[in-house]
Amino acid sequence: MTKMMQAVHIAHMFLKECLKEGDIVIDATSGNGHDTLFFSLCIGSKGKVIAIDIQEEAIISTQHLMKQHDRSNVEYHLMNHKDLSNQFEEYTGNIACISFNLGYLPGALDHSITTQSQTTIQALDACSTLLQEDGCISVIAYRGHPHGLEEAQAVETWMRGLSAREWHTIMVEAINQHSTSPLVFFAQKKHQSSIA
Ligand SMILES: C[S@@+](CC[C@H](N)C(=O)[O-])C[C@H]1O[C@@H](n2cnc3c(N)ncnc32)[C@H](O)[C@@H]1O
Repeated sequence: MTKMMQAVHIAHMFLKECLKEGDIVIDATSGNGHDTLFFSLCIGSKGKVIAIDIQEEAIISTQHLMKQHDRSNVEYHLMNHKDLSNQFEEYTGNIACISFNLGYLPGALDHSITTQSQTTIQALDACSTLLQEDGCISVIAYRGHPHGLEEAQAVETWMRGLSAREWHTIMVEAINQHSTSPLVFFAQKKHQSSIA
């Protein structure tokens, strides 16, 4: 598959369009830090990436990658993203983007620690108040591992349920590939002036 067609690349293409220098971004599943690095570069030294992961191994891996690339605009949080709303109340209405790259930590010995439908939806529910006008949510959902299909369906249902008055949403699917290929979801909060 060419890079252009990869789920991560597609998500980054959308994200690039809605990020600018100085933005504050939440990477809700930092994993090995590749998305965190992408955000850190997009928003520059005046911006901030809040990198979250439930596994210490992932936080250490993200910190290591940031050090390698001399990035200092990242804050690290070892936590469950289901607690997004109470942990980051101070950022209400000021976050440019919240990103979820679901599933398990690539390269980890234990693949049983994966994102779960229920906590993913809890985290998505917190996004609306944290995001600024025009802010966006990006989700990559992998349907090929246990619970992955169920989780992708839960995310799709959640995205379809967003108010058309207040949000733009899209889903990208490789339509001639295996039915377990990843899905990319993207939602952008509309500007208040366009809602009234
Ligand atoms: C596919 S990986 C993320 C890849 C990462 N964005 C990167 O660029 O390398 C998914 C990550 O989600 C984390 N995770 C699973 N459940 C979580 C939860 N409830 N809260 C926060 N992180 C979670 C896993 O530990 C894993 O590191």
